[in-house]
Amino acid sequence: MDPAAEKKRMCVTGAGGFIASWLVKLLLSKGYIVHGTVRDPSDPKNAHLKELHPTATDNLKLFKVDLLDYESVASAIAGCEGVFHVASPVPSTRVPNPEAKVIEPAVTGTLNVLKACSEAKVKRVVVVSSIVAVVMSPDAKGKILDESAWSDAEYCRKTEFEIKEGTTNKDAGDGLEVFKLGLCNKREAMNYGEKHGLDVVSVCPSYVIGPLLQPTVNASSLFLINILNGTHSSMENRLFYLVDVRDVADALFLVYEKPEASGRHSCAPYEVKMPDLIDMLRSLYPNYKYPEKFTEAKSYRLRSEKLEKLGLRYRTMKESLIDTVECYRNAGLMDSA
Ligand SMILES: NC(=O)c1ccc[n+]([C@@H]2O[C@H](COP(=O)([O-])OP(=O)(O)OC[C@H]3O[C@@H](n4cnc5c(N)ncnc54)[C@H](OP(=O)(O)O)[C@@H]3O)[C@@H](O)[C@H]2O)c1
Repeated sequence: MDPAAEKKRMCVTGAGGFIASWLVKLLLSKGYIVHGTVRDPSDPKNAHLKELHPTATDNLKLFKVDLLDYESVASAIAGCEGVFHVASPVPSTRVPNPEAKVIEPAVTGTLNVLKACSEAKVKRVVVVSSIVAVVMSPDAKGKILDESAWSDAEYCRKTEFEIKEGTTNKDAGDGLEVFKLGLCNKREAMNYGEKHGLDVVSVCPSYVIGPLLQPTVNASSLFLINILNGTHSSMENRLFYLVDVRDVADALFLVYEKPEASGRHSCAPYEVKMPDLIDMLRSLYPNYKYPEKFTEAKSYRLRSEKLEKLGLRYRTMKESLIDTVECYRNAGLMDSA
């Protein structure tokens, strides 16, 4: 346990989610008292939180919070030294009324968190964004981008189903389009820190894989589960960027604790062409039904060493894939093999 962390309080929004669960576990292991926000503390999908660490019984306080209810957000943040804003709707299927269900919580929810942080005078706020907020612009493909690039909200709105070759489910694609738009709009929310003198830093992960702590399946895990379960007969032959959820949790804590961290941080260590990813999975797990056809597509490229310069060491992709697939198998999420 880190003695300096003893009795300090940290707030994690959306504590029951995929990334947040790993972050809560990390913070508890470092001795922090964690204020975890969940929409429904009695929902069985959040039951794992109290099992994350031996100190969870005493040191994890769950708050019933909806991002659009400012008072509930403020009550969870009060008394905290730092805040990790992880909660955001991440749909994997089409969402009716996306403005209200996705964009509003992503944008207004983030502003509510930042306003409550200003009022509570927290030391630093770490916002989870996404590389989607970096790469979605008309001229991104063929370019090398880092976190100085911003996605274009209008382009996101217009883009017709970006991952159409990557899935057989058109509705899932529509859900992701709306998600991207919500992320682009987070730029406005990120400006809040500058305007109000609040120390805000962000981490922009790529597709997050890794073992699940929560009992439900989140959207990015579903992507890999669908590949292994043979949902895709054909996929795009382009670069994909992946990261392990445990490394994302480490990155979030690192940018919190390093005073020299500032602005956005791309967190996308595994750069891999889809056919190479499939070959690697096939060599490790030969018995699944993998896509056989790949359609040519242009890729953007990402380059960033900001997190490594701060001291982050990533797991290897092979280790991450093995731990991920073993978790899916143990959880009964695989159809066969
Ligand atoms: N996974 C990825 O590949 C990936 C990549 C880049 C960025 N991100 C970002 O990482 C963050 C976490 O993603 P995740 O993959 O961990 O997703 P997740 O497992 O679906 O977690 C999302 C969390 O947000 C909460 N939430 C959604 N709407 C809310 C609202 N209106 N009020 C309060 N809480 C709300 C959810 O609570 P409920 O359980 O109550 O719905 C859930 O706990 C998101 O900000 C996402 O944009 C994820």
